Amino acid sequence: MENFTRFNPTKLIFGKGVVDHICDEVSPVGKRAIIVIGKGSVKASGLYARLVSLLNMCSIEHVTYEGIKSNPIYQDADNAVQLAKDFGADMIIAVGGGSVIDTAKAVAMGYYVEHSVWDFYLQKAKPVKALPVFTILTLAATGTEMNPFTVLQDTENGSKRGYGHPLLHPKASFLDPTFTTTVPANYTAYGVSDLIAHCLEQFFGSGNSPLTDLHTAAVIKLAVEYGFKVKEQANDYDTRANIMWLATNALNGSLTAGKNSGDWACHGFEHSLSVLFDIPHGAGLSIVFPAWLKYHQKQLQQKLCFLAKQVFEIETGKPEQDASAFIDRLELFFQEINTPIRLSQVNILPSSKAEILANFKLNKVNGQVYKLTEQDHEAILDFMW
Ligand code: NZQ
Ligand code: ZN
Repeated sequence: MENFTRFNPTKLIFGKGVVDHICDEVSPVGKRAIIVIGKGSVKASGLYARLVSLLNMCSIEHVTYEGIKSNPIYQDADNAVQLAKDFGADMIIAVGGGSVIDTAKAVAMGYYVEHSVWDFYLQKAKPVKALPVFTILTLAATGTEMNPFTVLQDTENGSKRGYGHPLLHPKASFLDPTFTTTVPANYTAYGVSDLIAHCLEQFFGSGNSPLTDLHTAAVIKLAVEYGFKVKEQANDYDTRANIMWLATNALNGSLTAGKNSGDWACHGFEHSLSVLFDIPHGAGLSIVFPAWLKYHQKQLQQKLCFLAKQVFEIETGKPEQDASAFIDRLELFFQEINTPIRLSQVNILPSSKAEILANFKLNKVNGQVYKLTEQDHEAILDFMW
């Protein structure tokens, strides 16, 4: 077991109708909010109108920045910073999925500086202050609602980057699973693959922490169970609630307790695919992770056997066979919930190979534990077709 600090200051408010209590949380913080939303789902669902009427009831003035795209761009965050400054916002309310919330976190840091938010992601600057961020989550996937990370991209320069800082923990997050029933089947599946990928990235990190390993395997096992269920019963509250809570647990610090770090190479590979081809994050991960596992199968054998047993109850006593079986079953699961497992399924053809490898190199894609050379990049990419 490694030394670790476990600190998560985000207040999580979970369940049916919890958004109705938003005034209790925002009123003590300020009087002027910038609301950040995506391309329209929260207007279509009625959630935006409900929020506006609640804020009006507790006399919170507000302005809205809308149009955040999936695979969000730093330019939107810079524009929203300007709006927040002009308005004199004293808080941010993000309503949407990971893209909206990550943009809101960028705005929170950008509010107190004169340079582009992108400088934080380039590690050219560190925030000393950030506006308080409140989130109303509408898509279960990233865990951003309870973590200090944000991911944005610079499309022109082919770079999608993450940034983390303790100031970026949301102050409070409202998770009403009811709002996730309108997420289309494809994005629901991508959310499940993202949360499983978060488990795997941390599981293959360094450090020995038996409780955390069992916790991680349990999250994956339940994600598989509810991933199947949600395909059949998309409107079932309990199914949506379980997926939502699993996704939060997969990346809120719980699964690194007693470990040094995760590996995170697969997220690096996926960010290249998203910035180059604008594919959804979870769809990229269900292609990348099986490829990475196959490439490292020998080194990972013992850990793969542990997962085979805990997640799929496979234990034949033949380690090589069990390790393969875990990867096969994971791929099969991704196929069954209709998230892609090969690049050709998202129309990325071998003719793009050189461009993809150049982007891996540009962004220095590497694992924190399993180090990668350019030859490794190519070999892993070859497993993705
Ligand atoms: O833009 P709107 O109209 O809101 O539509 C969104 C979007 O088209 C839609 N949607 C969201 N909630 C909905 C809904 N549609 C119907 N009903 C609802 N209730 O779903 C689409 C995808 O939304 P998006 O926010 O892009 O998805 P997700 O939550 O998966 O976020 C993905 C982003 O998060 C980053 C990814 O790289 C990607 O940019 N990540 C952030 C992390 C973090 N901050 O910790 C970690 C992750 O590993 C990940 O990298
Ligand atoms: Zn992810």
